[in-house]
Amino acid sequence: MSKHICTRWAFDLGSWRPTLPQLSQAVASIQPEERARLMKFHFIDDFLSSLIGRLLMRKYVSTCSGLQPPEVKFARDVRGKPYWVREGNDRPPLSFNVSHQGSLVLLAGITGESSDPDFGIGTDVMKIEYSGGKSLPEFFRLMKSKFSTEEWSYIGRPHHDEREQVKAFMRHWCLKEAYVKELGVGITVDLQRISFSVDTTRSLETDVSPLIGTSLRCHDKPMENWHFEEHLLQEDYCAAIAFRNCLPPEHGRFKFLQVEQLLVKSEDSELEEVIAYCQKALLKPYKRS
Ligand code: COA
Ligand code: MG
Repeated sequence: MSKHICTRWAFDLGSWRPTLPQLSQAVASIQPEERARLMKFHFIDDFLSSLIGRLLMRKYVSTCSGLQPPEVKFARDVRGKPYWVREGNDRPPLSFNVSHQGSLVLLAGITGESSDPDFGIGTDVMKIEYSGGKSLPEFFRLMKSKFSTEEWSYIGRPHHDEREQVKAFMRHWCLKEAYVKELGVGITVDLQRISFSVDTTRSLETDVSPLIGTSLRCHDKPMENWHFEEHLLQEDYCAAIAFRNCLPPEHGRFKFLQVEQLLVKSEDSELEEVIAYCQKALLKPYKRS
């Protein structure tokens, strides 16, 4: 297996109330079609989550490729998965994926070598809480069909209290999502046939995350070219990273970035249309004030 370098970045939206100049810098650096997409969000929380995801992607590709941030071009495939439009073979092949939930935004990325470009990464983050309208047993009854018998026997272990069940559920959910997001196929996969067995000998809480003892079987076949990391972030978020045909040289933790590390100065941030766009966005309501 060739040499890979892995990046794990996180951003906490709870620590950031954007000012107009900050937002203008952020918005100036994303592509017009993304600006149009973001403006459709009702809540500013969702707008900012997705915006920060775009900034993480740009910083990541710029850092790995040596291109200036404005030179980095992104596109989306037919299923909406963003990718870097890599022109020429003189830049390293890389794979990245963003996930956001609650107040966290994550990016996981991995670079490789041009001689061996068939690898990829997917990631997902979930808050360890159940906040749906239905009761937990009713919710579980509906979700059961998305898990294998083995997975469900772990999630619903009788001696697991409610919090433990929710945590076990979220860990499996993140793993499935990270896998599906690497593939980029959305929810077209028969999730019940994708069975994870998590490391039950160690705990996310007490161990220095990540846990790396997870294995995957698809249609009963062990998937040996896949590796997984499970992370615990800020005590109540779990996250998973799926690695296809690659293995990070070390299993590090997510590094929290500050907004200043994501903003790039540019004259475009002073454009009237950018300022007007940001003023409009800042009028959107927060979910929790
Ligand atoms: N594949 C991989 N990544 C994708 C993607 C795709 N098809 N489409 C978008 N993304 C990226 C984008 O960066 C996106 O950010 P954006 O919405 O700000 O543009 C980000 O992934 C979204 O990921 P996340 O925040 O984790 O959102 P999600 O978990 O709600 O959705 C999907 C993930 C869209 C890829 C898709 O898997 C989905 O709709 N899942 C539905 C839930 C489900 O049934 N999951 C079963 C698992 S048990
Ligand atoms: Mg998700």
